[in-house]
Amino acid sequence: MAELIKAVIFDLDGVITDTAEYHYRAWKRLADEEGLAFTREDNEALRGVPRRESLLRLLKGQPVSEAAMQAMMDRKNAYYQDLLNQITPTDLLPGVSSLLSQLDTAAIPYAVASASHNAGTVIDRLGLRDRLGALVDGSSVTRQKPFPDLFRYAAALLDRAPFECLVVEDAAAGIEAALAAGMPCLALGPAQRFVEVERQFGPVPRRENLSNIRLEELHAAARLNPGWHIIQARFEPEHQHHMETVFTTGNGYFCSRGSFEEGHPDDHALTLAHGVFDDMPISITELANLPGWLDLTIRIDGATFRLDQGQVLSFRRYLDLRHAILRRDVRWQSPQGVVVDLTFERFASYAHEHVGALRVLITAVSQPCQIEVNTGIDGHVANGDLLHWRHLDQGEADGAIWLHSRTRHSGIELGAAAAVTASRGLPPEYQLCPGQPAAVIRETLGRYETLQVDKLVSYAFSCDRVEGPAAVVQRALLELNNLTYNELRAAQTAAWDALWADCDMVIEGDAEAQLAIRFHLFQLLIAAAQRNDRVSIGAKTLSGLGYRGHVFWDTEIFILPFFIYTRPDLARNMLMYRYHTLPGARRKAAANEFEGAQYAWESAATGDEVTPTWVPSFDGKELVRIWTGDIEIHITADIAYAILQYWSVTGDDAFMRDYGAEIVLDTARFWGSRAELEEQDGCRRYALRDVIGPDEYHDHVDNNVFTNRMAQWHLQTALKVLAWLDARHPDQAAALRQRLDLTETRLEHWRDVIAHIIINHDLETGLMVQFDGFFERTYIDPQIIADTDRSMQVVLGIEGANDSQVIKQADVIMLLCLFRDAYDHKTWQKNWDTYMPITDHKYGSSLGPSFHAWAACEMSRPNEAYQHFMLAAQADLYDVRGNAGDGIHAASAGGLWQAVAFGFAGLRIGEHGPSIRPCFPDHWQRVAFGYIYQGERRAVDIVKEGGGYRIVSE
Ligand code: BGC
Ligand code: BGC
Repeated sequence: MAELIKAVIFDLDGVITDTAEYHYRAWKRLADEEGLAFTREDNEALRGVPRRESLLRLLKGQPVSEAAMQAMMDRKNAYYQDLLNQITPTDLLPGVSSLLSQLDTAAIPYAVASASHNAGTVIDRLGLRDRLGALVDGSSVTRQKPFPDLFRYAAALLDRAPFECLVVEDAAAGIEAALAAGMPCLALGPAQRFVEVERQFGPVPRRENLSNIRLEELHAAARLNPGWHIIQARFEPEHQHHMETVFTTGNGYFCSRGSFEEGHPDDHALTLAHGVFDDMPISITELANLPGWLDLTIRIDGATFRLDQGQVLSFRRYLDLRHAILRRDVRWQSPQGVVVDLTFERFASYAHEHVGALRVLITAVSQPCQIEVNTGIDGHVANGDLLHWRHLDQGEADGAIWLHSRTRHSGIELGAAAAVTASRGLPPEYQLCPGQPAAVIRETLGRYETLQVDKLVSYAFSCDRVEGPAAVVQRALLELNNLTYNELRAAQTAAWDALWADCDMVIEGDAEAQLAIRFHLFQLLIAAAQRNDRVSIGAKTLSGLGYRGHVFWDTEIFILPFFIYTRPDLARNMLMYRYHTLPGARRKAAANEFEGAQYAWESAATGDEVTPTWVPSFDGKELVRIWTGDIEIHITADIAYAILQYWSVTGDDAFMRDYGAEIVLDTARFWGSRAELEEQDGCRRYALRDVIGPDEYHDHVDNNVFTNRMAQWHLQTALKVLAWLDARHPDQAAALRQRLDLTETRLEHWRDVIAHIIINHDLETGLMVQFDGFFERTYIDPQIIADTDRSMQVVLGIEGANDSQVIKQADVIMLLCLFRDAYDHKTWQKNWDTYMPITDHKYGSSLGPSFHAWAACEMSRPNEAYQHFMLAAQADLYDVRGNAGDGIHAASAGGLWQAVAFGFAGLRIGEHGPSIRPCFPDHWQRVAFGYIYQGERRAVDIVKEGGGYRIVSE
């Protein structure tokens, strides 16, 4: 595996031998002669710092001519050389000799890379010359540490890809250089020394010195933390769409799929931003693929770098979930035989949400070569075959290029700007091709030399309410002001450390589950708008064109709980989206001749229904009528459910007073008008006929128990909310009564519906009948369902599935979960036994497994819960459903958090506040996570111990 190191690169001073002491003495002598103050502490600060810079620091700003400076440097060096001549092989630092022998035995080559110009002398005196695979010193490169050039030079000289080389360093600048070079490292020395580097890059493996070190420790230092990294060790073009989804990165403002910067045949490169919708046929509206910020062409001696060309000699890509950074290392041989090492690192800045940052390192490995980098903003993008942008103008200003575009139908203005800098040579040349402004860098690299290109790109949109057509461009340009890649990276580390402090979930005893949960929470976090409360998370987040960016009940029932409990501010933004789209919901109700507000099954910018009416069938041969937008009505109650959950967990009365109550009450009016009164044999009952419940294999059904019970609960809740408002905020209550026409007659009608709505729940047996007549449909042997390798809807056909007792996803079982403590064991057991065997767990809806995991915990069946949990956990990472390429299964991602929090940990909010009831699968050892209850931060930490659980904190 690529995680095992193939070479080691040592710094010299302080690592192999302690020349720091000699430096000290030489500087001290010079300082004394010049009457300058110089202490050991000053010397400590000079570790790894080149000679000229050291002298400048020693001079503390004192003006000295260039000639005098040169003379002083020469003198210091002469003193130092004298001291060096006293070095012998016994001056190797403790542990070095043994470590080098271990490396020799393991046939792992090693090199020394030191900024010192005397490195050769020292190595000779230490007797190491013949054992080194390479020796590079300060004269090898122009840019010294902390720049990555020297270490990449050494790696190339050793003929190893940078990421396969471990750097051992005692200086902070050296560690920074190694990390910047894309290399794993081991820091030597006191923790204090590396605080600043760790601030920028995160934790670095460290020990005091090399005493007693074993080779295994070096391998361990190089290993990416398996709990935080999604690693791809090989590029397989047949999985590229799946991997593009997995490697999606973003910041809540925009997300980009993990396509390659340089492109690849048939890739699905995509950058989406919240709210940037444009019209389209059939699905009505969709998020528009933004002009691409990654746009990059690299030519090596004229050959275009792409993985389908030339030869890929090594490849590794990983997503660092901890800091939301995507990195790729490639050693590539051009068709003409030129070998280069390329490292790509990119992230969407969480601290500066308009900005994306990309860094590319190119090192000439086999020979000197000409490099051309052409990179800018690519406006020639489409959603499949559909063009959404009209390009208005492009240009160059303040060292940046910019593009001004407008969506063709919705008229949203986009301003994008890009600033490109290169580590060598002249500033870039600009090419202003229509719709694609770019910066071009041309450079000749000597063998082993590195070119570094940093690119910062920003987006601004008129739907962010920037006034006027020109303003978006200025805003985009402004966003880049005074930013540098390194600063953005440090800010990224800090922002994500803070995010994870709120949101992380620890699972011990199961590495796969641990990584999967973090991955999915990561995918939700990058999709959650930080500041915009007019958008929400779509069923495929911003990671793919599946469902066109539309928002479903997935958000409220599956995704929101995670945010409600960990980042209520972000949850509130998403609930506010429903508030802002109430007018759309009112239009939908009116169009259907109902009262109040009826939420769209699929919702976009305005809240109007955007579910396609027809879509192509599985085989693409015919069009299939989609009824969800017409009759999958439970979403309206699902939204109310989320609001109540938000309110009870956060205690955010202001939200409830100003927005939540209006939503709950106006949507209650919808239910009041939707419920049909039927009088039969002197019996009054209300029915909800012709609906689709969560189980979409069955449409046009009557009295789906999930829908009816949710509607009943909704009306009950509306009455309670109104009573609360009356008591606490009578003015608001009066205003709402007036505006929503909440007369006593209407409330009385609601009570009547509550009392008489049909709930297919047999209290005798506990059985809930999913909808009227469900058990009269054709019985399907559960074994057939368990054994299927395709969706049961494909196996039986749409009509066949509709006529059968086979279900797509949790329906009754979901209802049990949502009101888990309201149902007795008999009801749980009966419905569990009835519905679990006839559910299409694997190929039905991806929304099923996470709820089944939770439900299994309620049934005290943790190992079975685990099977369902893993089915959800693997949906995106292993593409078990074969459609991960379309985008992240966001509901399943949120459902995983619920399965752990509500299921395995058994967190619930009761009358007396939160409580825990753990139920772990056999091999889980610990579950820990934080949440906020009524403004107060709480921690759950459950450790399995002696057949029971120790709940460390609550
Ligand atoms: C599921 C729905 C879900 C939709 C979007 C469908 O396959 O059956 O419940 O809302 O996908 O994720
Ligand atoms: C989903 C529906 C959705 C429809 C159209 C189906 O696959 O199951 O929930 O409304 O696609 O987007």
